Amino acid sequence: MTENAIILGIETSCDETSVSIIEDNPDGIPKILSNIISSQVEVHQEFGGVVPELAARSHVEKIDQIAKKAIVESGINLKNVSAIAATYGPGLIVCLSVGLSFAKAMAATLKVPFIGVNHLEGHALSPKLNSKLDYPYLLLLISGGHSQYLSVNNLGEYQRLGTTIDDALGEAFDKTAKMLDLGYPGGPSVEKASKLGDKNFFTLPEPIVNKAGCNLSFAGLKTAILRITKKIETDQEKFDLAASFQKTIEDILTIKTKVAFDEFKKLNSEKSGSFVIAGGVAANKGIRKKLIELSNKYNFNPIFPDLKLCGDNAAMIAMVGLEKFKNKQFDSLDLPASPRLPLDKNAKFLKGAGVVL
Ligand code: KG4
Ligand code: ZN
Repeated sequence: MTENAIILGIETSCDETSVSIIEDNPDGIPKILSNIISSQVEVHQEFGGVVPELAARSHVEKIDQIAKKAIVESGINLKNVSAIAATYGPGLIVCLSVGLSFAKAMAATLKVPFIGVNHLEGHALSPKLNSKLDYPYLLLLISGGHSQYLSVNNLGEYQRLGTTIDDALGEAFDKTAKMLDLGYPGGPSVEKASKLGDKNFFTLPEPIVNKAGCNLSFAGLKTAILRITKKIETDQEKFDLAASFQKTIEDILTIKTKVAFDEFKKLNSEKSGSFVIAGGVAANKGIRKKLIELSNKYNFNPIFPDLKLCGDNAAMIAMVGLEKFKNKQFDSLDLPASPRLPLDKNAKFLKGAGVVL
């Protein structure tokens, strides 16, 4: 029997049902014993986006089997689990409730602590499953619902430096894919199509890049794409538009990340440090390459989660659970699901923002 803490994590905030078991390694990086992820892509494909009722039903149908699979694959005995961690927000309330109830029931049955985890903190700490990473660090969180620059000062201590004032970056990829009829989910299909096109063929707007600060905006880009889509006739033009979109995103992130570097340094006695890029969009190879080059130029250390840990998964939830467990930050079984749960609770709500952050 191991002495190390073992955390069982559960993620059901959107369209992935996932259960993972990780084991602490006091001398290094925690070990992922299992991380079962069941995606609902086929369920939502025909609708071109996540349908909450269908997503919740699918979580209910699958959670038992996924949990069983994760336990068997990990090789652990359930009596050695130290705590159960589950996402309690942000996300779709009907989906969050499935994982949360399952986690609370497990914690009560096994008589171990229950730990509620902010899904965004899961993304923020996801690289700790493959890299050594100390606080504070700069984080660019780019997912289907969020696009933010944050200074991660400590566990649970976030300072937002910038955020999207309209669409999230993943949403921009998904909508572009839909307009170009490239398939769902959009991010990977736009990236694939962009490789076949000429990135300089279309000139697209770069909203608010010249404004001070590191807020982001993608809505204008979407409108421009819609306008061009109506005129294009060939597959090649489609690929050119996907390539031009990918290039424009890389340019916007390059400009705004430079500003975020300066803002992070201002907060940290002019010291640079680690720059974490996390969330589903962090799987984009073009974005990865650009941000690695930029980090090297400005003396930041770029850190990404493993490709398979960029999208939603329970290992990242267990990772936060492990840090909270070590700090004895446990939650009561009354903890409600919170569809809106910002990382920086003091950050102002931005007028005009499509996403409440
Ligand atoms: O983090 P995530 O799995 O779920 C949320 O918490 O939102 O992110 C999903 C988003 C989707 O919008 C998806 O299209 C995008 O990440 N994504 C990508 C890529 N892979 C996934 N976007 C661009 N390039 C990719 N390779
Ligand atoms: Zn996510």
